[in-house]
Amino acid sequence: MSKLVLSVKGITKDFPGVRALKGVDFDLNEGEIHALCGENGAGKSTLMHILAGVFKQDVGEILLNGEKVSIANQKNANELGISIVYQERSLVGSLNVAENIFAARQPVGAFSVIKWKKLYDDTTELLLKLGIHIDPKAIVDQFSPAMQQMIEIAKALSLNPQVLILDEPTATITEKEVGLLFSLLRKLKEQGTAIIYISHRLAEIFQIADRVTVFKDGEHIATEEVINIDNEWIVNKMVGRELYFNRVEKLSHDEIILECIGLNSSKFKDINFKVGKGEIVSFAGLAGAGRTEVMRGLFGADKVSSGEVFINGKKVRIRHVNDAIKNGIGYLPEDRKDHGLFLEMAVSTNIASASLKKLSKGMNIDNKLINKTSETYRKKLNIITPSIHQKVVNLSGGNQQKVVLAKWLVVNPKIMIVDEPTRGVDIGAKAEIYQILRELTKEGTSIIVVSSDLPEVLAISDRIYIMHNGEIKGELSGDEATEQLVMKYASGIMN
Ligand SMILES: Nc1ncnc2c1ncn2[C@@H]1O[C@H](COP(=O)(O)OP(=O)(O)OP(=O)(O)O)[C@@H](O)[C@H]1O
Ligand SMILES: [Mg+2]
Repeated sequence: MSKLVLSVKGITKDFPGVRALKGVDFDLNEGEIHALCGENGAGKSTLMHILAGVFKQDVGEILLNGEKVSIANQKNANELGISIVYQERSLVGSLNVAENIFAARQPVGAFSVIKWKKLYDDTTELLLKLGIHIDPKAIVDQFSPAMQQMIEIAKALSLNPQVLILDEPTATITEKEVGLLFSLLRKLKEQGTAIIYISHRLAEIFQIADRVTVFKDGEHIATEEVINIDNEWIVNKMVGRELYFNRVEKLSHDEIILECIGLNSSKFKDINFKVGKGEIVSFAGLAGAGRTEVMRGLFGADKVSSGEVFINGKKVRIRHVNDAIKNGIGYLPEDRKDHGLFLEMAVSTNIASASLKKLSKGMNIDNKLINKTSETYRKKLNIITPSIHQKVVNLSGGNQQKVVLAKWLVVNPKIMIVDEPTRGVDIGAKAEIYQILRELTKEGTSIIVVSSDLPEVLAISDRIYIMHNGEIKGELSGDEATEQLVMKYASGIMN
């Protein structure tokens, strides 16, 4: 019989207008990896925030090693041996790696002098465990979201926790890093660490978890040993209906809307590609292959040193983001927190923010129209929020992602770049988002998808370009592409 480490009993948590948790129970054993699943807004992160001392529950109790505990704040949670990797990034970009990992707990010697050498040595050791070779003195800002995520994980591990919470740790990382993370989690598990693992990628749950619990609308629905269940079981408990992810019908795209010739920058080399009218073209590759950099270059967000861009056969100059928008290009960024949302503003304000001209009457902003438009997209994308006037910061991660998407759907650009459009989005909503993208193409919109989710890329793309090391290494039609083939190009084995 394994030892019970953590026991959550009857926890209820209210936010204005929402009951995020309704009397939920949750158990965690020593040396167990316990997955927590549920749709966007089901209450997963809220429970984790309570365990990490960010929020206090309204009702219910938490027992740690059989004793009732009150988790007053984050420091207190750490002292109790609970450590968390948040769903949203929490690093301070302007500080270096070691300073972030050991924030406020630097090793000190006599007279409270920080032992810098020890700090950097400890950091290096920790990073090596995760298979990361970076300078502990490097400033965090310069790293990709994937690398920053690995630093977050290193930070949580540095506390040597008894209970480790990972809230969607793999949303921003790819295959190789997931492999490293999983082997590390298995090691921790052997040492007795109790792990709570949240993910929308069901395949991961079958790879790594011992038990799975499903929440729905703030309620505990079921807990089961992973060996007794399958994919359908989870989906059924989560959504309450069967879901099918079908390959979509392909249209012909003879009219070229966008053509890029010989784009170069410090981050990519000799990039040539075409996008047809109403076509969905994906850019596949591993994290760091340069896909996002190419899109940022095309969108005028980063500098491109040479190359030509043609839209509808006409050469265009895109030096700033405004040039791109004027030319009918929209961009749903990879990192919604930095580039996509005004977190402290209402859902409706965010949805309207890129289309104010369209949503104005003469010189005045038409609030009625903004509200009506926002309501339409709330329903269309099933954005879970008590109202469109709620601040975006209070929405669950996946629902924030839907707000950014809604914002660009209102703009309705000719060419829409979507960078990891379904990151953190539950499986039901994923299917809905792709359905919406497909509908847009029927109206003539062309879509460029950057995604690390290979099964999705294969399901939705008319054509796929595969990047490796800043270069396009392969081009496949949606019909000929297979996971194996894409991975061969992506890993640089083939070109
Ligand atoms: N600080 C807050 N203020 C108001 N409402 C909140 C706050 N935090 C969460 N909520 C609401 O509580 C509910 C549960 O959100 P939570 O973040 O726990 O969902 P989740 O299961 O983690 O979803 P996701 O998969 O999208 O991350 C949602 O309706 C959300 O809008
Ligand atoms: Mg969450």
